[in-house]
Amino acid sequence: STIPFTDESFDKEGYSHYMRKEIAEQPESIRRTLSGRLDTRFQTTHIGGLEMAARELLEIRRVKILGCGSAYIAGSFGAHLIEQMARVPAHAEPASEFRYRNPVIEQDTLYIAVSQSGETFDTLAAVQEVKRKGGRVLGIVNVVGSTIARECGRGIYLHSGPEIAVVSTKTFTSTVVAFALLAIHLGRIRDMSTAHGSRLLKALEALPSQVEEILAMEPQIAELAKELAAHDSAYFVGRAAGYPVAMEGALKLKEVSYIHAEAYPASELKHGPLALISPDTPTVVIMPRDDLFPKNVSTLEEIRARSGPLYAITHRGDPLPVPVNGILEVPKSEPELDPLLLNIPLQLLAYHVALAKDRNIDQPRNLAKSVTVE
Ligand code: G6P
Repeated sequence: STIPFTDESFDKEGYSHYMRKEIAEQPESIRRTLSGRLDTRFQTTHIGGLEMAARELLEIRRVKILGCGSAYIAGSFGAHLIEQMARVPAHAEPASEFRYRNPVIEQDTLYIAVSQSGETFDTLAAVQEVKRKGGRVLGIVNVVGSTIARECGRGIYLHSGPEIAVVSTKTFTSTVVAFALLAIHLGRIRDMSTAHGSRLLKALEALPSQVEEILAMEPQIAELAKELAAHDSAYFVGRAAGYPVAMEGALKLKEVSYIHAEAYPASELKHGPLALISPDTPTVVIMPRDDLFPKNVSTLEEIRARSGPLYAITHRGDPLPVPVNGILEVPKSEPELDPLLLNIPLQLLAYHVALAKDRNIDQPRNLAKSVTVE
């Protein structure tokens, strides 16, 4: 069974779709996820629901993140944040894969279950498997008091407010923000300096107004969407934390527009997908202005040499050295958080492609908001 879609329970407040409303709510939902959790005195974060003292947190040698759909993808982004900020090896895996492969449960691993609804069957079953084998688990969940939240017993609530559209937007963003809070916390009891902690807290505080700026780019994004809507298939590529952003961009596009969209690590293009690059197959390149920027420029060149239409999602800066068919430039944050801002235009892109194709945006065919069966 699935949780029924409750059309009438929340007002769309003048928006044509819940998806559009929830995208627009992100400055506020990010603020709620951050609320009361930034400790500017010690340049760290305070997570009330964590219930793990520094001593216990220092025992953690690895982090394993479990979830389904966008929750899994947000977890992949979170794994990058934990590795980069706290220097603790972290990895995300779809909850269903994990629970059926008789996983080795380790005492010094922290297991994190990610779920907007807190009711996804596979994620719940993965939590139960970890607990049965004596592992320590915490939840990153939106719905307060949900089954996964109760089963985990400790964790981080997103406080994003209700998300009605089947596809998740604001809870994806808030989940990544929650991982940043956790990563800073883990980092500051390890090697992260006060100066680095301070930079990251300031960057988190600036996110809501930066998201506002990106939302104001909607007319430009809608124009780009019209071009994308003319194609049957698209690639999304990125590197490091840009790869989960590419995954989420592709998932959003296929969910709401029904255009075939595939995400690939940019470095893997030459190991297969290049065979499909042609004027018919556009590629959306996620390219933060970071150390890997030159690598992503090479990716643009590889695709351009095969006449593939190119759309670059990047930060404001110098003109790109390779001509592209479209470019969306967003404000810059700290390097660790930069890819998150690149995700916002992709949400609006998917929305406008779906609008152009007259799809059932809030309730795509065959999909449910919460999958409470296997
Ligand atoms: C369904 C939804 C997705 C969601 C996934 C996990 O497939 O359509 O949007 O990401 O479930 O849901 P959860 O509530 O566990 O985050």
